[in-house]
Amino acid sequence: MSNSINTAGSSSGYKTIVYWICIVASLGGLLFGLDQGFIANALPTISHVYKLDMVGGEAYSAILAVGALLGALLSGFFARFLGRKKSLVGAGFLFAAMSLISAFLPPMPILTACRFLLGFAVGVASFIVPLYLAETAPAKIRGAMGTLFQLMITIGIFLISASNVFLVHIIGSEVARLPVMFLTIAVFALVMFIGAIMIPESPRWLMLKGKREKANEVLKKTLNTQEEIDFELKEIQEAINNSSSVFGAVFKGSFIKILFVGILMMVFQQLVGINMMIYYAPTIFGYAGMKGLVAMMTVPTVNMLFTFPAIWLVEKWGRKKLLYVGAVVMFISMIAAGLAFLSIGHAADPSLIGGTPKVVLLIAIIVYIFGFAFSWGPVAWLICSELFPLEGREVGMTITTMVNWTFAGVVMGFSLTFMKAYGNASIFFVFAIGCVLACAFLYFFVPETRGITLEEIEKNLKAGKKLKNLGETE
Ligand code: BGC
Repeated sequence: MSNSINTAGSSSGYKTIVYWICIVASLGGLLFGLDQGFIANALPTISHVYKLDMVGGEAYSAILAVGALLGALLSGFFARFLGRKKSLVGAGFLFAAMSLISAFLPPMPILTACRFLLGFAVGVASFIVPLYLAETAPAKIRGAMGTLFQLMITIGIFLISASNVFLVHIIGSEVARLPVMFLTIAVFALVMFIGAIMIPESPRWLMLKGKREKANEVLKKTLNTQEEIDFELKEIQEAINNSSSVFGAVFKGSFIKILFVGILMMVFQQLVGINMMIYYAPTIFGYAGMKGLVAMMTVPTVNMLFTFPAIWLVEKWGRKKLLYVGAVVMFISMIAAGLAFLSIGHAADPSLIGGTPKVVLLIAIIVYIFGFAFSWGPVAWLICSELFPLEGREVGMTITTMVNWTFAGVVMGFSLTFMKAYGNASIFFVFAIGCVLACAFLYFFVPETRGITLEEIEKNLKAGKKLKNLGETE
């Protein structure tokens, strides 16, 4: 990024180039979404080409989460020792290389290894992107930029669902279709890889490594005046001076408290049940006798469209209000979906199911996805990227990202089995309880972090303020 483009300034303390830096960095989210959404409409093709039974297909799908767990675990080290930027470049390379190798339709063990490594890259991206955005975007637009990560995830899920449905229609032969499915991901991965090479390093990481001059250079690209840059550098330096070693930071009571908020944030993001819908909506609609484009595209479309309002709502309303409203909307829609399934009972022939429960179910799922998309989707990742003090940020976010993937895996792995065991309606009531518990958690523990700098949050933490008051300014 040359300095000449940076002259286009905004009068509100940062330059328009910031938006571009953040958009490019958040392409990591797009790849997260492409790989997460890939399975729903591609699995029949993969299973056919590789002659997989149901268990084989599930194993291939699920290996992504295992890779993501490992990626998240190691990304804290990458972020600290290689830097945020190089870690993103590495993830972009993995995304591109593994999708490309998969497109050659290698033997099954190699294809599986590729999906594992794609998962690894997803894990790294789901850790690095929110971290990078929080550290690089100025406080005033940090929330909006933080939501870009989620927006990209949902765009990725949408794009790959749509393109796979389309490819199924236009390429009849599975063996010819599958390479194109993988190549679609490879193209986006290449764009991300090149983009990651172009963005600057996070100024906070540079300061952490004692590279003040370089941090100054990066801030010149994003802020308008030297005065603002000096203020920012001073704040970061103070935060570094006041922090102890990573071990010192991590084994403190205050850190453990924050970690508790971050972990529960991620647990509840999954226990409201989103991934049951992302992975199994077509199956669930199928139980109610609904098939076709509505069953395949409703969830990805609504999920993407309603992430857009979050970009400005997160700054206008603040994080907590969005989370409350989202949890209540999801609670009501889960109850409605559960009641719809109760009224359906166990239909031996789904095609005989009446219109009313179908309409109720469809509306309930649309409203549910809407409730998640503008609230818990973006805000959970955002809050986890804002809360931790600089020295403990990598450790904290490593743990919260791993928790997210673990619970995502639990939801993906057990939702359908649970429905089979306890009736189709049962799981919706379980997730409705998840929404109620999420509200209680918000009320007792979660701080509002809108508009406050990361350094101020850190000061409040050190001053021993209560968790829910950490976002207060003096
Ligand atoms: C969640 C993912 C989910 C996605 C859906 C993300 O915030 O972490 O598990 O699949 O949202 O949009």
